[in-house]
Amino acid sequence: MAVEEMTGERTTGKTVLLIISGGIAAYKALELIRLLRRAGFGVSCVLTDNGGRFVTPLSLQALSESKVYADLFSLTDESEMGHIELSRAADLLVVAPATANILAKMAAGVADDLASTVLLATDKPVLVAPAMNVRMWLHPATRANMATLAGRGVHVVQPNEGPMACNEFGPGRLAEPPEILVAIELLLAGQTIGVASAPLAGRHALVTSGPTHEPIDPVRYIANRSSGRQGHAIAAALAQLGARVTLVSGPVSVADPAGVSVLRVESAREMLDACKSALPADIAVFAAAVADWRVTTAASGKIKKQPGAEPPTLALVANPDILASIAAAGPERPRLVVGFAAETDDLMANAQAKLARKNADWIVANDVSPGSGIMGGAENAVHLVSASGIETWPRLPKDDVARRLARRIAETFG
Ligand code: C5P
Repeated sequence: MAVEEMTGERTTGKTVLLIISGGIAAYKALELIRLLRRAGFGVSCVLTDNGGRFVTPLSLQALSESKVYADLFSLTDESEMGHIELSRAADLLVVAPATANILAKMAAGVADDLASTVLLATDKPVLVAPAMNVRMWLHPATRANMATLAGRGVHVVQPNEGPMACNEFGPGRLAEPPEILVAIELLLAGQTIGVASAPLAGRHALVTSGPTHEPIDPVRYIANRSSGRQGHAIAAALAQLGARVTLVSGPVSVADPAGVSVLRVESAREMLDACKSALPADIAVFAAAVADWRVTTAASGKIKKQPGAEPPTLALVANPDILASIAAAGPERPRLVVGFAAETDDLMANAQAKLARKNADWIVANDVSPGSGIMGGAENAVHLVSASGIETWPRLPKDDVARRLARRIAETFG
């Protein structure tokens, strides 16, 4: 990587003291330093003993272009810069990754190494980005420590949910470096973050996800290839920003997102009823791939194959349009209604037509042509279509599309 790209032209004049504690996620600190430098921040690093098992002082020093501090009793460090000076020189202290151990030390006021001593001695704002095994994160001891730290005004970038290095699944993954960067930028701009002051705190979001199954008879149904990944990721991302989320999901095999209430349905008509029952909502995101048609009258018994007889003809009838009916003007219309348009042809024209026809505020348009790998895949390439124009986003993992969309939603409620 070129040095110009690392350092960038910009400088904010602000310095972050990045404390890296031990955990498999410590490698993400390297990417965070790169992003901070590119955004114009000065970065100095404190590495704990355990952190040093995962990343080397040399790589931190190369990326931060600054000395890395590790030893509380290093005389050179003390003569150049004591631990009090270290935090005085910074505008913000960031602990990323923050292990259960360092959070416990912070809560208890333990100062037995350079990192914990700096954290106890500082009068600067502190941001922690926890990363640990899901059980450690959910343990009452960690819950209590987090509550203590929140009570003292420590800011938190909540961990994400997902597969973990220890083969478990759940909340505890270090937030992605771009999310930590956003939190740092907000804090240094004098804004607040964290659950209590999360941008969508107090808002109710309704999200639909997955396919619908339309019965033909008790054993057969009409369905589609939707996995529910994108809708579920959006529900999780909105919850991360503090919204109360109701997820109305068709049959999927992805896990329920943490902290979200899930209403499970099968057919489009059940999905509509569940959505109506969840109102009022401030935000509604319709990511479900709802079947356009259902069999007019599903057979009550299994349709039999008759030897020599013609195959049965299925008479179809249109399903209710859930998005259009919730977005129709009225006192219960959510303030922001977001639809999806998965198209194989004329993507933009179809998305714009859908925006008007369904009375949506935004349409997230994506090309699901065969070969795009998007339907059922892990990535998405979308365009955000609204009355004010079209924004094209890069191809991103579905989780990142969800986080970006949730942040855009939060901005409109800011
Ligand atoms: O008309 P089309 O199915 O392409 O529109 C897609 C958008 O409308 C998606 O947001 C989808 O969730 C929503 N939709 C719906 N109910 C339907 C059909 C689509 O909510 N019956």
